[in-house]
Amino acid sequence: MARERVVSAESQELDGERSAHSLRPARMDDYIGQSDLLERLRIALEAVQQRKESMEHVLLHGPPGLGKTTLAHVIASEMGSRAYITSGPALSKAGDLMGTLTKMESRDVLFIDEIHRLPPAVEEYIYPAMEDFKVDFTVDSGMHAKVISVGLKPFTLIGATTRAGLLSHALRSRFGISHHLDFYDEEDLVRILLRASDLLAMGSFDGEVASLLASRSRGTPRVALRLLRRVRDFAQVRSRGAVTQEVVTDALSLEGVDQLGLDELDRKYLATLVDPYDGGPVGLEAIAATMGDDAGTLEDVVEPYLLQLGFLARTRQGRRLTTRGADHLGISLDTGDDTD
Ligand code: ADE
Repeated sequence: MARERVVSAESQELDGERSAHSLRPARMDDYIGQSDLLERLRIALEAVQQRKESMEHVLLHGPPGLGKTTLAHVIASEMGSRAYITSGPALSKAGDLMGTLTKMESRDVLFIDEIHRLPPAVEEYIYPAMEDFKVDFTVDSGMHAKVISVGLKPFTLIGATTRAGLLSHALRSRFGISHHLDFYDEEDLVRILLRASDLLAMGSFDGEVASLLASRSRGTPRVALRLLRRVRDFAQVRSRGAVTQEVVTDALSLEGVDQLGLDELDRKYLATLVDPYDGGPVGLEAIAATMGDDAGTLEDVVEPYLLQLGFLARTRQGRRLTTRGADHLGISLDTGDDTD
């Protein structure tokens, strides 16, 4: 892709993530949205604090950018402990986790992002760590091989995944709490944006412009905050810091973000469905090959929001553009039967 997606829900280190970090809520009371999950976590936290135990392992699943890493930090700070952050692809062999696991104190949090990409050898290695707070490792090889078992302090594993379906049953069943994070509604995004604009001292950012920005943030706080920073830059350079509806609209159109928060990649996906696939049904692999993009990326970062908008249907025969999607593109589908 020629340029980075401003609406990408994936985290982008180079895109001011350091400032994003300081916008993150540190405590549960500052965390906006996901109220069902927060309630479950509050109860679990209070119960284990009373019993002076570590929190159960937590599995968070759902589209990227909805605050899974943030929650790991929030849980750790509520327990007065530390969070260690890693990811499935970063752990290529069992030994990669050894240092962290043995260094962790009681009630510390180990956050593994993209846990569905954990190599099988590492996955097996963490089962006894999760269940009995111990790890086994083999020293020497052949006839001299010995298994040494090392005890760990009781810790909490928080696993995050965009594809819960890819987790083995064995891994999934070892989490005491499993929760699906949903897209945020506009009201919650407005609250998140107003909180962040306060922290960024953007004086002229009011509820009206927050609503406009929220409506284009595809239900995703990470997108909302990234757009907010683009708007802040634009306002600073073009309008002496004043953030009006017009400034927001101009800043977002410069970023190629439309009224619904769709960007070039989304539009390219929809355009590919139409031409050459006549609206589908067509397999994801075929769409990805035509676009020259990765099927996994499309499935994780493009499709969830198009499905949410009702522009896309996933059928047994493949992906299909819906009538609503066709209307948005200003075309008509002659396939008639629309079963979304
Ligand atoms: N910043 C990003 N996500 C947030 C959330 N859920 N609540 C408050 N601030 C946030």
